[in-house]
Amino acid sequence: MSDVIDLSSAILQQLQSLARSGVRDLPTPQPQTEKAMARGSVAPTELTLPRDDRRIALQVVRDEVSQCTRCHDLVCSRTQTVFGVGNVQPRLCFFGEAPGADEDAQGEPFVGRAGQLLNKIIAACKLTRDEVYILNAIKCRPENNRTPTDAEIDNCWEYARRQLEILQPEFICCLGAVAARALLKRKDSIGRMRQKFFDYEQSRVIVTYHPAYLLREPSAKKDVWDDMQMLMKAMGVSV
Ligand code: URA
Repeated sequence: MSDVIDLSSAILQQLQSLARSGVRDLPTPQPQTEKAMARGSVAPTELTLPRDDRRIALQVVRDEVSQCTRCHDLVCSRTQTVFGVGNVQPRLCFFGEAPGADEDAQGEPFVGRAGQLLNKIIAACKLTRDEVYILNAIKCRPENNRTPTDAEIDNCWEYARRQLEILQPEFICCLGAVAARALLKRKDSIGRMRQKFFDYEQSRVIVTYHPAYLLREPSAKKDVWDDMQMLMKAMGVSV
């Protein structure tokens, strides 16, 4: 009996949270194309939030982010906030650090040099940028691309948490230490966290090196490829 009460209370909390994010309808089964399912880019589950509800809910959070003034220094250094981009019903999310100069100018994550490398990593996994969702732990560009402070990571976490709650990805790939710190609340080195699966809510999470690190340290590309192969195997995608 207490299991039933726990479950009802968990479902109620989830529904209340989605309602706060702007979701107005209950989930209905979505048609899935066989090709996308075979490529592994679409979740096989039938019980998912409808795409339109996700778009609406994400827009609510995006609007809040665009008005955010929680971090004085970031408000001063940003041109605009950078929310997220991609498939609103993704199996896989890439979770980065913070926008750089190109992202700050264009309002989209991972569009600069690190983004081009991320595109290659996504392509090597036989996926496209449109099939995954890409977001950052921090929505504003830190001045001179400095590492975000712990306070900034904590201030911004609510937004990524709500994005992920709406997106419900099966898998999340943390790119670098800031992403892992925000999502998993861990401060271990990437070397210690990679090649393992962690749990975040209903998602399985891996941690790997940030593409910007690979630009400075190309020898680490092999490690990232090993990490992506581990991820693809878990996703049932042959690479
Ligand atoms: N690095 C990140 O972590 N995110 C971006 O959007 C661009 C570079």
